[in-house]
Parts: sequence; C-alpha cells; structure tokens
Amino acid sequence: MLGLLRRRGPSGFSPSSTAEEVTAGIDGCGLVAIVTGASHGIGTETCRVLALRGVQVVMGVRNTLSGARVREEIVRQIPTAKIEVLELDLSSMSSVRRFVKNFNALNLPLNILINNAGIAFVPFELSEDGIELHFATNHLGHFLLTDLLLEKIKVTAEQSDIEGRIVIVSSEGYKHAYREGIRFHKINDESGYSRFSAYGQSKLANILHSNELSKNLKEQNAKVVVNSLHPGEVCTNIMHHWAFLHGLMCTLGKFILKDVGQGAATVCYLALHPQVAGVTGKYFIDCNATDPKSPATDKELVKRLWDFSASLVH
Ligand SMILES: NC(=O)c1ccc[n+]([C@@H]2O[C@H](COP(=O)([O-])OP(=O)(O)OC[C@H]3O[C@@H](n4cnc5c(N)ncnc54)[C@H](OP(=O)(O)O)[C@@H]3O)[C@@H](O)[C@H]2O)c1
Ligand SMILES: *[C@@H]1O[C@H](CO)[C@@H](O)[C@H](O)[C@H]1NC(C)=O
Repeated sequence: MLGLLRRRGPSGFSPSSTAEEVTAGIDGCGLVAIVTGASHGIGTETCRVLALRGVQVVMGVRNTLSGARVREEIVRQIPTAKIEVLELDLSSMSSVRRFVKNFNALNLPLNILINNAGIAFVPFELSEDGIELHFATNHLGHFLLTDLLLEKIKVTAEQSDIEGRIVIVSSEGYKHAYREGIRFHKINDESGYSRFSAYGQSKLANILHSNELSKNLKEQNAKVVVNSLHPGEVCTNIMHHWAFLHGLMCTLGKFILKDVGQGAATVCYLALHPQVAGVTGKYFIDCNATDPKSPATDKELVKRLWDFSASLVH
C-alpha cells in the first residue's frame, strides 16, 4: 500500500494497519463472537484474527462446506482456535431463524456480533421472501438476526460485566444510494433498479440500523455498543458481479488498495479494542470515527427504516 496511506489517526492506527496489528496484545479469551459471511474475504480474516486473540468464534456461512474448509485452515494455523460453523443464509428469514435456534442450542454466551456478510452489484433479483436481494441480504437478514440475538447479548453483558459489541460492516458506497435514500414504496420494483444504487441503499440501511439500535440500547441502559464502518477497498469476491471493476481492483488495485488483513482491521478494532469502550452509534473508517453524510444522519429516515424493517420481518 502507498506510503501516503500510512498517516496515523488519533487511534494510533492508519489505513495500512492490519487486523493483527490493531488487536496486538489484546486477550479475547472467554469471549464469544458471531461473524456472518465468514467463508470469504474480510469475514474469514476477522474470524482468524479473533481466534488468534482467543475469542471463540461462530461462523455464520451459507455454504457449510466452504465454511468447514475455512475453519480447517484457521485451526491448522492456530491449533488452539475455538471455532464452530453454522449454516446461515441472510437472504432467507427462515434460515436466519434456524441459525439462531442452532446457536442457542450451543448454550454459549454472546459478547460480539459482527454483521459482515454482503453482496454487491447483483442483477435484479428477489429473495425467497420476495425482497430485493441486496436489501434482503445486506440489511434485512442482519436486522432480523440482530433482533433475535439482542436479548442474549444484553444478558451476557449484564452477567459478565463485559460490554457487548455489535459491529455492522457498511461501505462508503452508502453515498450512492437512490436519490430518496431508501425506496420504501419501490423496494421490490425492477423498474428504476440500479445495481449500484441498490448496493448503496443496503449499505445506507446498515448505517441507519446501527445508529438507531445504538440509540435504543442507550435508552435501555444496556451495556451494549453498536458501531458501523467502511472497511476500505479490498480485492475480495464481492465485486465479481461487475467483471470490469473486479478486474481493476484485483490487478492494478492490488498496489493501491488494502489487502484483506488491512480490510479486517477496523472490524477487529471495533470488536476488541479497549480504546472504543463505551463508544456507540459512530461510523468508522481506518479505525477513526468520522461523520457520515446525509442521508445517513436523517432522523426521519432512520425511524422510517426501523418501522419498515420491523414490519417486513415480523
Ligand atoms: N471488499 C471491499 O472493497 C468492500 C468495500 C466496502 C465494503 N465492503 C463490505 O465488506 C463486507 C464483506 O465483503 P468482502 O469484501 O469480504 O466480500 P466477499 O469476499 O464476497 O465475502 C462476502 C461474504 O458474505 C457471504 N454472503 C454473501 N451472501 C450471503 C448470504 N445470503 N448469506 C450468508 N452469507 C452470505 C459470502 O459467502 P459465499 O462465500 O458463500 O459467497 C462471503 O463469505 C460486505 O458487507 C461488503 O459490503 C467491502
Ligand atoms: C479522522 O476523522 C476525522 C473526522 O472525520 C478527520 O477530520 C480526520 O482527518 C481523520 N483522520 C485520519 C487520519 O483519517
């Protein structure tokens, strides 16, 4: 990565800091984390580094075969790693409910939830529940998952006296949502659909979800913080629906973009670092809290999205 990106922020970390670097010396033993979309990219690296710090990790993956392969590779590198693999398809509400049932059957506490799974720039498609696929996968599945796990996270925090953390992986792509932000009335309309804006819309929803959940938890005096983030641009699988961009990011991009270790840094920082204890409702880039732009700060929009999402999942 280029030298100009080594500038350190107030956290002491820079865009080129890796997940291992930002968690160096942190002991995560005794903590339990769920990571969604753990079978590739930023999610896999997040699992690996959390496991390296002693966290017990539950991987939520839609393909349990590739999940098992990833698990095997991590355990090969870190023989002490404690990792489970559970099936989770975020685009399906019944799969999300099944995952939570299976997780609860493990009888584990839950300290950290990392909503990372995502798709980008897919052609128009409806999920099995009849919802536009970016919105269903990136936002709504995670909205339901978080809702179903929230009581457990709160109780764990209460009983262990360790702050619970929810980390929501968004993207600077939120700036390219539709002009009206969220197309509530046209969420499932193919007319006017843009892959670019549909991805942006779902990532905008991630930030709004984080902000409103943070506010709700504060009002309840829960010992649980929620933050969202942009991981930086990384050559992973996510752009493969857009061959040109994928090609660019994974060839030329390799020299100027982040590698996956750098891409997972802000995620792992928010999950484990003591610097951000008590910090909630913020949007991070490069381990640095920044102010997202409108409409991510729109108070009306945030409420409307919450009610809209709740009505869709219940
Ligand atoms: N890479 C970037 O430049 C970049 C930039 C900004 C934001 N982000 C965000 O970072 C997050 C991780 O992306 P990545 O770059 O690591 O992409 P990736 O390599 O494509 O990984 C995405 C993960 O999400 C999983 N996933 C996709 N749909 C799912 C579903 N319906 N249910 C369960 N899991 C599903 C994928 O599973 P499979 O392996 O089965 O496909 C994969 O494990 C995303 O939220 C993305 O929006 C990435
Ligand atoms: C950190 O965020 C603040 C607020 O957005 C910004 O002014 C500052 O330049 C950022 N620092 C780095 C190193 O990115």
